[in-house]
Amino acid sequence: MKKKPIILGIESSCDETAVALITENGDGTPKVLSNIISSQIDVHKEFGGVVPELAARSHIEKIDLITKKAIEESKIKIEDIDCVATTTGPGLIVCLSVGINFGKTIALSLKKPFVAVNHLEGHALSPKLNSKLKYPYLLLLISGGHTQFLSVKGLGKYKRLGTTIDDAVGEAFDKIAKLLGIEFPGGPQIEKYAEKGDKNKYKLPKPIIGKGGCNLSFAGLKTAVLKISKQIKTPKEKFDLAASFQRTIEEILYQKSKVAFKEFKKIHNKKNNTFVIAGGVAANKKIREVLTNLCMEENFDPIFPPNNLCGDNAAMIAMVGLEKFKLNKFDTFDHPPKPRWPLDKSAAFLKGAGVKF
Ligand code: KG4
Ligand code: ZN
Repeated sequence: MKKKPIILGIESSCDETAVALITENGDGTPKVLSNIISSQIDVHKEFGGVVPELAARSHIEKIDLITKKAIEESKIKIEDIDCVATTTGPGLIVCLSVGINFGKTIALSLKKPFVAVNHLEGHALSPKLNSKLKYPYLLLLISGGHTQFLSVKGLGKYKRLGTTIDDAVGEAFDKIAKLLGIEFPGGPQIEKYAEKGDKNKYKLPKPIIGKGGCNLSFAGLKTAVLKISKQIKTPKEKFDLAASFQRTIEEILYQKSKVAFKEFKKIHNKKNNTFVIAGGVAANKKIREVLTNLCMEENFDPIFPPNNLCGDNAAMIAMVGLEKFKLNKFDTFDHPPKPRWPLDKSAAFLKGAGVKF
């Protein structure tokens, strides 16, 4: 019987050092052999955000240990690896460089191919690790750095339908958390605060909600929360503001997803459509619930990665590596880090005060 491919995935684009090994089951579905993630929350906590140089140093300190652990846990031998897949962008250049040099070194020493992976494609394909996902599908990518609707036609084939014109959703969660005095990264904490508050207490704006297609904006919402946060005195008011913010985000994502559904259906005239929601913010329970309900109403199948694969991880990077390995799509060893690397290269740059709808 032909040996199933074993892919080593490496992720170091921001503040998570992650290494994973995946292979295939007998029926061709992916199988995660190990998935180790080392978060740097403690390194960056006192600064209230990711400090690139400290992040890179921490990747350097940990990457070989994490790799050793991933190999031990997978119970394979390093010589069994068939391909090394590494995130080469987008992300912080000093952080990307650590994973890239490490991945290339392993691939070269084992005389195995190297695959350069777009981190965003990792998120896009992450649900493939636990569900049968067929192209084409509509993707909502909601992470700390990105908020986009994309039509995914196949591996490497993306058409952006909408994007944030200012902050990413995860970034908005983190900034609001900071305003409320919650430690970095605040997204998951805001969700917990929101559970204790009154979501109807504060009426917050939903920027560009009725215009701009499925493009999104969060800057005006953040400014409104900033103003209110200055008058807040009690913990109860903090919970109420978190709840009102969480609810507003849910409503924005609900309404904009509805617009994206229409645009997706114009391109793909299919009966059964799939809506994939991926990225760190996809771990938010209420957002999952609201978007699942929308899918029921609109006859789309909702697909989320499991919670542990929503945030940054290397299993999703290995997943892209596996798909490319099967198509013999390899990269050369002079492949550079790409701090900016949009999934849809033809999409216009749509950020800043100059954008008008
Ligand atoms: O995908 P990810 O791990 O990293 C990037 O590629 O950016 O996403 C991290 C983001 C952070 O902004 C974090 O606060 C947010 O996802 N996040 C959440 C939740 N869990 C993580 N935001 C809201 N609710 C959550 N439960
Ligand atoms: Zn990410």
